[in-house]
Amino acid sequence: MSEVAEKIETRVALSAKVAKFIGQKRKLLIDGKWTEAASGKTFEVFDPATGQVIAHAAEGDKEDINRAVKAARFAFEKGPWSRMTPSERGKIIWKIGDLILKYQEDFSQLETLDNGKPINVTRGADVPLAADMFHYMAGWATKIEGSQLSLSVPYTPGQSYHAYTRREAIGVVGQIIPWNFPLLMAAWKLGPALAAGCTVVLKPAEETPLTALLLGEIMIEAGLPPGVVNIVTGFGETAGAALSGHMDVDKIAFTGSTEVGKLIARAATGNLKKVSLELGGKSPNIVLEDADLPAAIAGSASAIYFNQGQVCCAGSRLLIQQNIFDEVVEGVSKIAKSIKVGAGLDTQTEMGPLVSTIQLDRVSGFLKSGKEDGAKALAGGNRKSGAGYFVEPTVLVNTTPNMKVYQEEIFGPVVTAVPFKNLDDALVAQANDSIYGLAAGIWTKDVGKVHRLAAQIKAGTVWVNCYNIFDASLPFGGYKQSGWGREMGAEVLKNYTETKSVCIGYSTE
Ligand code: NAI
Ligand code: MG
Repeated sequence: MSEVAEKIETRVALSAKVAKFIGQKRKLLIDGKWTEAASGKTFEVFDPATGQVIAHAAEGDKEDINRAVKAARFAFEKGPWSRMTPSERGKIIWKIGDLILKYQEDFSQLETLDNGKPINVTRGADVPLAADMFHYMAGWATKIEGSQLSLSVPYTPGQSYHAYTRREAIGVVGQIIPWNFPLLMAAWKLGPALAAGCTVVLKPAEETPLTALLLGEIMIEAGLPPGVVNIVTGFGETAGAALSGHMDVDKIAFTGSTEVGKLIARAATGNLKKVSLELGGKSPNIVLEDADLPAAIAGSASAIYFNQGQVCCAGSRLLIQQNIFDEVVEGVSKIAKSIKVGAGLDTQTEMGPLVSTIQLDRVSGFLKSGKEDGAKALAGGNRKSGAGYFVEPTVLVNTTPNMKVYQEEIFGPVVTAVPFKNLDDALVAQANDSIYGLAAGIWTKDVGKVHRLAAQIKAGTVWVNCYNIFDASLPFGGYKQSGWGREMGAEVLKNYTETKSVCIGYSTE
């Protein structure tokens, strides 16, 4: 087992704003006011790099969800939000993006502290992408359009119809988000809901409640009216379940495990609220023999190791053409061994800890089961000793399709590498041999193979000669058990609007 080395001199010092923020007990945001949980309970927030408690957050449950839904309902039906012009709403959404950038360093530090991911990643990806989501969605507020339709019904002589559709905000939305990209997931959810004119109750993950609460503060600063966004921190089984089962919530949007996604869908049947789900994955990343190998090797390593492998679309099944198998696997293993694992606040760190002891146990369990089943680790294979929830970047070979490590989502820095012979149906069958269908990667210079594979792979996103490219304009979501609906782009607005047909009869005589 290797030790986690931490260089004190390259460690980022916390800003005064962040130090103050974590020093105070964090409250719930309900109807524009910061309030304690009705029960008065709080829960501890941990630094995954040390296992130490860094903050305390209010433990909201059913009663708080009820209060928050009531505030969101009032804001939707009676408040200024739904009466504002789309342009006025767009300006506020844009301002939220601006303020995220204004406090970029505070958000970056807070996210790194809470989730564990490297500060270079929060500064370079999580926070700017979150700002961009609000900026992008601000523009949609003024562009949600219905259409005018030509009817062909055999109508009464002397009578004609003018028909059109209206796209209206769906209403009060419940949003339940995970801990792997806490701020960014809040942005993916809130941006489009606000652009559509909805009001929201957001439940952040219990592992990482902090940046969503800071976002709550800046949304008030941006001028968002009370009750439009309510934030209830707390646990899934209590606060989350109360939100997904609430009879006065019109729509629930969830990102997290497939297991909980199914619970949400069931909980939604009470009032048949609309549901969108962004769930797990076991995404194939395919390297063909004609690929630019250095790029494919570096890209395949980053496809699995980015964010400690805690990415729903991680390229966790590396499928490599047989004649280049050794070269690619050795290349990825070499990168895995060279990755600097350490505390996220150290600017030299390339990979941080996993988010929690539960995830550490889960990923360690997969490593153990892989070993027992006969898989071989060419790199890594163990957790790291000492404090914090660190796991070594791992490459597994000699896996077979019946192994747990091959089939199930590990959600850690662990890739299984498997050879394939040629580009026949077997490869497509192999790539599609999963209950999931979130993403896929293809590395090749042959455009014909790109088109063939891109069409045949059952996944919501196919990256070619790149991986993990996300953009506010690119729809993202899953086939099969990876989910329902799409996030981002114009597509996501369908999740937050209802289409109303209006048909007006008039006399032509
Ligand atoms: P989870 O699905 O339990 O948690 C995600 C969110 O759902 C959290 O906000 C949680 O409080 C909430 N939640 C949990 N139970 C709920 C319930 N009964 N009703 C309503 N909300 C509920 O995920 P968890 O346990 O943190 O991680 C387990 C596995 O899930 C991971 O190992 C990974 O495989 C997968 N996962 C996938 C994510 C993705 O981005 N698709 C994100 C996080 C986890
Ligand atoms: Mg869970």
